[in-house]
Amino acid sequence: MKYCFSGTGNSQWVADKLEGLIADKEDMFGMIFPVYAWGLPKVVEAYLKEHIEDIKRANYVYAVMTCGDDIGYADKILNDVLEGKLDAVFSVHMPNTYVCLPGFDVDKDEVAHRKAKETLSRLPEIAETIKRREKKTDVCRGGMPWIKTHVLRPLFNKYLLTDKYFFTTKACTHCKKCVKGCPLENITMDEQRNVVWKHENCTGCLRCFHRCKENVIQFGRFTKNKGQNIHDFDR
Ligand SMILES: Cc1cc2nc3c(=O)[nH]c(=O)nc-3n(C[C@H](O)[C@H](O)[C@H](O)COP(=O)(O)O)c2cc1C
Repeated sequence: MKYCFSGTGNSQWVADKLEGLIADKEDMFGMIFPVYAWGLPKVVEAYLKEHIEDIKRANYVYAVMTCGDDIGYADKILNDVLEGKLDAVFSVHMPNTYVCLPGFDVDKDEVAHRKAKETLSRLPEIAETIKRREKKTDVCRGGMPWIKTHVLRPLFNKYLLTDKYFFTTKACTHCKKCVKGCPLENITMDEQRNVVWKHENCTGCLRCFHRCKENVIQFGRFTKNKGQNIHDFDR
């Protein structure tokens, strides 16, 4: 696999399992990442655009997208970004990580484990498809995919893809785990040891929220009492 982005670890877990099943040939370009708001995380889109010439040189391009429920037309957005080079695309279910709006929470433990187990059982077939270099689209679009990707997604990106609502509660122990863990290096600590989101390049992955050991990171009012995605799927 040439590229993996994972916010809270779901996509990394799938990437590790899939890599155990296929050794990519040099002329392939494989990628794994999560679906955000029925499209691509902005950091993924930026990476792919930056590396488009390398990707276009590959003889077989495949993508596996992890999602909590459904992807809308994220695969079509991806194919557009890849200038039509996508040969095979799969979506697999993993535990939900989006918790920032009312009604959205992490999955119950049993649901989370069921999703991971079902995904694990699909991976050998996905790996065989890739090894045979088949052209394939095997994704879960869900209902009203066009509205989700072309109406709700732009609204989400405009109003909710921001780090300005993050804060830590008084229980913060200043352990710096969020600072060190942010994949975009978008979190720092000021002189008073307050955690500060830099408003630079947050991609909305919520790693800071889910990985905080003390569970003191909040996003506005709606993450209060929401769960964290901290499952160990290998147990
Ligand atoms: C900002 C954000 C937006 C999301 N949007 C969707 C979505 O549109 N559809 C979906 O099924 N899951 C959505 N999810 C859930 C993630 O795609 C899913 O939990 C994924 O496996 C997370 O992978 P990761 O742990 O590698 O970041 C979203 C999660 C986040 C944080």
